[in-house]
Amino acid sequence: MSEGLILGVESSCDETAAAVVAGGRRVLSNTIASQVDLFEKYGGVVPEIASRRHLELILPVIREALQTAGVTLQQIDAIAVTYGPGLVGTLLVGLSAAKALAFGLDKPLIGVNHLQGHIYANFLAEPEPEFPLVCLVVSGGHTDLIYMAGHGRMELLGRTLDDAAGEAFDKVARSVGLGYPGGPQVERLARSGDPEAVPLPRAQTEGPYDFSFSGLKTAVLQYVQRTGPLNDQQRADLAASFQRAVTSVLVERTVKAAQEKGVRQVILAGGVAANGALRQEMRAALEPHGIALGYPPPVLCTDNAAMIAAAGYHLWRAGVRHDLDLNAVPGLGLGLGG
Ligand code: KG4
Ligand code: ZN
Repeated sequence: MSEGLILGVESSCDETAAAVVAGGRRVLSNTIASQVDLFEKYGGVVPEIASRRHLELILPVIREALQTAGVTLQQIDAIAVTYGPGLVGTLLVGLSAAKALAFGLDKPLIGVNHLQGHIYANFLAEPEPEFPLVCLVVSGGHTDLIYMAGHGRMELLGRTLDDAAGEAFDKVARSVGLGYPGGPQVERLARSGDPEAVPLPRAQTEGPYDFSFSGLKTAVLQYVQRTGPLNDQQRADLAASFQRAVTSVLVERTVKAAQEKGVRQVILAGGVAANGALRQEMRAALEPHGIALGYPPPVLCTDNAAMIAAAGYHLWRAGVRHDLDLNAVPGLGLGLGG
């Protein structure tokens, strides 16, 4: 078996991305064409517009990823592509391009679950994560706490019962007049705020590892309505207090799960894993228990294709191959009964 040169393709939301990864670890290229500017004025992604933009960008992005990596299509061992979850129209653009390449080149096609991709971004970071571990997936659409015994051996411990953590960041950002996507802007604003200034609820859930963020989001909205137009300090205090309310529950449940499972390592995945406060608070809470924390660099936390190639590599090694009738599955879960 060769080193395993995988071309990854990702188009599940508003990033058109392609990457070449060697051996599931070495990123040779990671091309990302973000559509964020396009959607700032709408305050969110417009699926139809996103699909059209993907269509324009997908081939140039793939070409650039190959060029930067200095490899030809013939040298690629397999094509890994996100087939869900995500927006059906945008997923189909990347999937169709990947299928066409796989067919034309007679190379294996490997469908990758986008969430699994986020998890595998950790395998592109140093040091390489060691099993068993607990993984907290915090993205725009998901908040899942997962136990991983090995590659592809996952058990769902808990998840959000309503809003995802990233979704809460985006909605709160909107309510204090920040643009899309909200996470990075709330984080920036929070730096000059007091996280204890505004009392906000920490939802208790029946499942010890489940989450709920919709009550928190509503509390923030009510605070804004009650207080009236906020001055700069009030906005910063609210952002900091909201961020602390989210991170404190994420940290508390993750530490509990890691202890219960007896793991020596926790990893973070998904867009919210780019959040500096979450990383810092998680590390501080795990350290006394001798549990290490891993996370990808910020550019690999948010949507990219290197993570899809990394996940695809392990599937390729495990012998997974998909037929050309593979379809986009917008509501694809991790298949863990969640
Ligand atoms: O994983 P991702 O890029 O896309 C999905 O698969 O959903 O996650 C995007 C989410 C958005 O909700 C965004 O606001 C949030 O991740 N996010 C952040 C940060 N960077 C991105 N949230 C908090 N702090 C950040 N620095
Ligand atoms: Zn994502």
